[in-house]
Amino acid sequence: MTTTVPTSATPAGARPLDDRRADAREKDIMRFRTVSGPDLTTRNDAYLAWQLDRQQAELWPYFRRYESAALTTRATVVSDTGVVTQGPNFGGQDYLSLTAHPAVLDAAHQALRDYGPLTAGSPALGGATPISKALETGLGEALRTEHVALFPTGWAAGFGTIRSLLHRRDHILLDRLSHDSLRQGAAASGASVEFFRHLDNEAVRRHLRGIRATDTAGAVLVVTEGVFSMDSDTPQLAELLGICREYGAHLMVDVAHDFGAMGERGGGQLEVHGILGEVDFVVGAFSKTFATTGGFLATPSASAREYVRMFGGPQTFSSAITPVQTAVALAALSVVTSAEGARRRTAVSAVATRLREGLTARGLEVMGDVVCPVVPVLIGDTPTGRTASGLIARAGLVAHLVEQPAVASDAARFRLQAMAEHSDDDVDTAIDILDTCIREARRTVG
Ligand SMILES: Cc1ncc(COP(=O)(O)O)c(C=O)c1O
Repeated sequence: MTTTVPTSATPAGARPLDDRRADAREKDIMRFRTVSGPDLTTRNDAYLAWQLDRQQAELWPYFRRYESAALTTRATVVSDTGVVTQGPNFGGQDYLSLTAHPAVLDAAHQALRDYGPLTAGSPALGGATPISKALETGLGEALRTEHVALFPTGWAAGFGTIRSLLHRRDHILLDRLSHDSLRQGAAASGASVEFFRHLDNEAVRRHLRGIRATDTAGAVLVVTEGVFSMDSDTPQLAELLGICREYGAHLMVDVAHDFGAMGERGGGQLEVHGILGEVDFVVGAFSKTFATTGGFLATPSASAREYVRMFGGPQTFSSAITPVQTAVALAALSVVTSAEGARRRTAVSAVATRLREGLTARGLEVMGDVVCPVVPVLIGDTPTGRTASGLIARAGLVAHLVEQPAVASDAARFRLQAMAEHSDDDVDTAIDILDTCIREARRTVG
């Protein structure tokens, strides 16, 4: 069967260009989320036509490629239609600027020489090296939690842990804004799943009371994040842990964005809230602060760790993180836990503060009440967000628009990611460009 791929020159149907432009700017991407029809190779053609219209109109913020190193403070990015953006880079995740740190690069080269570019297989089938053990030990010390299992990505850590530990007669209670990996793990586990209002500990208490009124036998897992990166806010974790204990529930915290980047010693929000070592399941990602891809589970339970290592899908059926990734995470961890790490945390916090204050002074709405490396700037309606995103790319700022399905359709935002090595000039240029382009977009969209 052949598929006709529509292009901007041959769109689906013969709709006038102005209508297609308006659709590109305004239509909800969720229209395409559920499609039906017997032919899987053609039933997404309408989606592709719409995507091409968005690309053509410079209203498509996705799949751009870095032509320079991705995590330098200034970068060059090119869109599918050839729009080149050259300027301050607030679109990458390297909170402590460790991707170019000499100790990190040396560790990567050494691991490549010692162990080669790939592991023998999954963690279950020979995927570990001596560096894996050292990394597990180091993470366990930093989180004061004895048992650690490594995963190939942060996504796999959240998904694999929940999916393997919870079963049909159990309950999972997630913050309504939990990351995709946690939601998918919950959905795949077969347990009964409920969502509670974002950050609302009293809502957690009500849900737990309801669950325990009818079921005292099943396990209950409450799931939240140290910092919610789309919103730059954090739960009252110590109180939440107390509520879980009251109702015989367990707590899981995803520390992808805060571990290493926040807290005096880099222990993230668990350290800030004084509960390092007390949470039942801590999952995290290396991809924000530890200069590589990969993830982990840390737990005080030896049996839970072994069980997840055997039954957590990516532990057995996906190749382990490579020796280079493991060595990079280990070298980054040693910087994170040193005095240099503390200096870098102070630096990234100063960058985030300058951004927050500068944007607020221009009348823009900066979201969240936690100074963390992620600075979300609320736009609101999606058409304005898409229009501003196109203007910002042309003006020379690398910053990502976040729109549906990641956030609600009336809550589009730019998510700026600060790095320790951003200069004042990078920050001030970003503020100027955002301010000018968002104003212009608001004028255009009306
Ligand atoms: C809270 C949270 N957990 C997990 C992940 C996944 O991490 P990774 O990209 O390393 O797989 C992310 C990244 O987007 C995240 O924000």
